This record gives sequence, C-alpha cells and structure tokens, in this order.
Amino acid sequence: MPQEDPRIVKLRKMREKVQEGGGAARVAKQRAKGKLTARERLELLLDPGTLNEQETMITHQGDELGMSTERILGDGVITGYGQIDGRLVYVYAQDFTVYGGALGEMQSRKICRVMDLAVRNGAPIIGLIDSGGARIQEGVRSLGAYAEIFRRNAQYSGVVPQISIMLGPCAGGAAYSPALTDMILMVEKNAYMFLTGPEVIKATTGEVVDPESLGGAAIHMSTSGLAHLSTPDEPSALALARTFLSYLPSNNVENPPYQSPTDDPLRMDEELNSLVPLDSTLPYSMHEVIKRVVDRDTFLELQPMWAQNCIIGLARMGGHSVGIVAQHPSVMAGVVDINASDKIARFVRMCDCFNIPLVTFVDSPGFLPGVDQEYGGIIRHGAKVLYAYSEATVPKISVITRKAYGGAYVVMSSKYLGTDINFAWPSAEIAVMGAAGAVNVIYRHQIAKAADPEAERVKLIEQYREQFGNPYYAASVGFVDEIIEPRETRMKVITSLSALRDKVAPHPPRKHGNIPV
Ligand code: HXC
Repeated sequence: MPQEDPRIVKLRKMREKVQEGGGAARVAKQRAKGKLTARERLELLLDPGTLNEQETMITHQGDELGMSTERILGDGVITGYGQIDGRLVYVYAQDFTVYGGALGEMQSRKICRVMDLAVRNGAPIIGLIDSGGARIQEGVRSLGAYAEIFRRNAQYSGVVPQISIMLGPCAGGAAYSPALTDMILMVEKNAYMFLTGPEVIKATTGEVVDPESLGGAAIHMSTSGLAHLSTPDEPSALALARTFLSYLPSNNVENPPYQSPTDDPLRMDEELNSLVPLDSTLPYSMHEVIKRVVDRDTFLELQPMWAQNCIIGLARMGGHSVGIVAQHPSVMAGVVDINASDKIARFVRMCDCFNIPLVTFVDSPGFLPGVDQEYGGIIRHGAKVLYAYSEATVPKISVITRKAYGGAYVVMSSKYLGTDINFAWPSAEIAVMGAAGAVNVIYRHQIAKAADPEAERVKLIEQYREQFGNPYYAASVGFVDEIIEPRETRMKVITSLSALRDKVAPHPPRKHGNIPV
C-alpha cells in the first residue's frame, strides 16, 4: 500500500479540525443548554446532504486581548449554500462555541460573501443567529464588520428573501441585522434579542430584569412585535423556516412557487353565509373566514400574538401564494391603531416586493380614537398603511365583510388606493362613520329643535343605517365592484387572481419614495 501524500493527510486533519468548532468542552456546554451545534442546525434546515461549506479555513486576524492564543478555523460561523425543497439557498450559522458566536472582521467577511453570492444568484439568505454581538476583542473592527452586514441587509432587501432564525442569546448587532430582514423566527426559552443585556441595563438605569423577560420569544412575539414566529424547539424552528420559504419566490423577479392544490378552487362554503351575526355589534371569527376561503390548511399566520386586532399571514389560493390582511372583529372590534398600522404596512410591502398578491378582508369601525394614539403618532403610523397599499403593484383584492368606516375603509385596500377588485358581502356597512356618531354631527341642530329630540335621533339613525348600513350605496357609485354571497368568496377571489396574474403596473421613475416611518 503506497504511503499517503502528506499534503492530503494534512488537509484531512484540517478538515477534522474545522468540525471541532470551539472544542469539546464548549460543545458540551452548548448541548447542556438544549442547543444543537451550528452544523447540526444546518443539516436539519437543508435538504439532506446538500450543504456545501465555504471558507472553512478562515481565522481571525487580530492579536488583541489574548486572541493570539486561540485561532479557530472558520472563525465562529459556517457559511455556504444548499437546497430547501430543491431550491438553492445561501446560509450562515453562527457557532456559539467560538467566542460566543461574536462577530469579528473575518466572520463578517464570510457572511458578506454568502450574502453577495446569494444576490448574484437570486437565492434567499438564511441566517442562523446565535451570537453575543460585536466581538469585544476586535473593537471598532467588529463594529465596522457589522455595518458591512447591515448595509447588505438593507441593499438586498426586496431583492432576495432574508430570513433570520434566532437560536441563542443575540445581543447588539446580532439583533439589529435580523431586524433588517424579512422574517424573524425565535426559539422559545433559548433565544433572546436585546441591544444591551440585563447587566448593562442594571448598571445604567438600575432596572433589574432577566434575559427572558427582557428579550425572550414571548416578549418579542407579544409586546415589541419584533418576531414573526416562535417555536418550542430548534428542529421545529428550522422546519418552520422551510415552510415559510415555500410561500416565497427565490428573488424579486420570480413568482412564488406554485403547488398543485388539493382543495377545489370552486368550492363553495355554506357556513360562511351564516358567520356574520345579524347584530353588527357582535363579534365573529375572522380566522374562521380566512380558514374557509384559502386552500385547506395553508394559512401561516405571522405575528399572531402582537396587534391582534389585525391578522396577517401567507396562504395559498388555487395553489398560488397570497398575502392575507384582515381585521379581527373579536379584538378591539378590529380598530386600526398604531401597532396594527405597522404590522399591516410592513407585511404589505413584503408581499409587494416578492410578487405575492394581496387579499384583504375588511371589518373595522375605524382608527382608534384617543389622546395616547394621537400623541403616539397614529397619523404617521396610519400613513404607512396608505403608503404601502398605494405603492404595491401586485394584484390586490379586497373583501368587505362588515364595517368599513372612515379611515379604515380608505386604508384597507380601498378601490382608489389602486385595488384591482373590490368585493363586499351583503353585511357590509360602508360610510364615513357609524350611524350614531354621524347623526350627532350632521343633525345636531335638527335634533335639538325637535319636539321629541330622542325620537328624532332614533329616526335619523335609522334613516342613516338604511342608506349606509349596507353595500348598495357604495356599489351604486362604483366603489364596490361586486356584492357577493359569503359562500362564493373563495371562488370569486381565485377567479380574480387568475385574471390579474399578468398585471403590469409600472411606477414613475424615481430613486425611491419617502415612506413615513
Ligand atoms: C467576545 C464574547 C462576546 C462578545 C460572549 N463572548 N459575548 N466574546 N465578544 N461580544 C464569549 C464569552 O467570553 C465566552 O467565552 C463565550 O462567549 C460564551 O459566553 P458566556 O457569557 O459564557 O455565555 P452566556 O452566559 O450564555 O451569556 C451569553 C451572552 C453574554 C448573554 C451573550 O456573553 C453577553 O452578555 N455578552 C456580551 C453581549 C454584548 O454586550 N455584546 C456587544 C453588543 S454591541 P468562553 O471563552 O468562556 O467560551 C454590538 C454593537 C453592534 O453588537 C452595532 C449595533 C448597531
């Protein structure tokens, strides 16, 4: 047997070394926390055997603060490409066993490299984030290194989908880069996101808070609105990222993948005809409406625990991806407030940049009145929804299921914001405001002068309801294209979507708009 070439033996040894990450002790610590290693995570995320690693021999370059003693191959991140459902994706996974996954110059260079390759090849970028943020030892070089990533996050936004899966304590830049991406998915209990951790907060403000209460999945799912989805463990997070991606195209010039539907596109749903109560002050489940209209079991709700007065999510209709926006009449009667505005506006823009048609279900009594809302900038936030719908060029369809009052009528994909097809159910009420408020404003003097003011008020409210408490006035002036029975909704929306499939709606040339933020 001839002796093996020592150069090849060396390569094999180096390759083995690459697999070790920060060493057995740190890997054991990682496992003790119930966490997988970076490589195991990528294996679960990608189709089996498709991971191709790049730049595995890179190490950090500086010698500061004792860093000359330990140079770890790969510099704390695995980068490369692979496939999800047979589609090309570029990936990076930070390795917490190497300096806590903290980002230095060379780690950043590796990440930027896959980001650049992803855009050149029109493929999504998926980041598995598990990092203490900027690597302290590298000082300003690690800050510049983050800036390189942030710039790419911004410049590649709307070009290829960017997904961040949060799998550990993510501080500083490790939280900011995901905030620039399209989707943040957090693992419950083990993932945190904060700019400054509990220790720094205690030192500066005196507040005492634990990591979970400061930046755990529950907080970002329900309070800050930062996270889109969370799961109880890492395998389910990685599986969910694959599902999310199945609704998106690989880049902004492709259409989302089509999946042959198992649900009849012409299916009528009789239950829908009795879903909206006759008394329009009573709530009903908009989730039920959505579930019954879209292809069976395809609705993936995003941000389900934040701003619950509105609902957003991805689904399929007739096998094609759609973005669903809706009000939730069971939560705050479906009013549009600051958080709902932000939630809707960002989602509409995501769908628009990735060629996902929008289907909007409307049932809202209007914008939320109140000093807090006005001081908090509801005008500025609500303007984002107007901006987003007006700017979106994807096919847009709206279905007014019940109330469409005032500003809420206008912002929720109304006809003259450029919506292509507007449907209304017979239960729709379309007016500037509700009957009682309107009568008090326009008939104040008439009511005051009447012999029996209360009877006069009741009569006028009834008259107003007669005129505006239905969709027929709006239809007679062309603001509603068709009044449909609720049971026909699925068929009508799918048929409309196919008629809009080749829609072309060019923008006037400009550098970019100035969306209110
Ligand atoms: C270098 C770091 C590091 C960092 C952690 N480590 N964070 N090394 N730079 N930022 C190292 C630790 O020294 C340790 O090394 C290993 O990673 C694991 O860390 P532990 O503290 O033992 O783990 P844990 O108890 O789980 O705590 C994780 C942590 C904590 C919550 C992330 O380490 C922490 O608070 N780190 C600092 C976070 C931070 O403030 N980062 C800077 C953000 S500023 P050994 O050798 O023991 O394994 C920033 C600016 C960007 O990012 C710009 C934004 C706009």
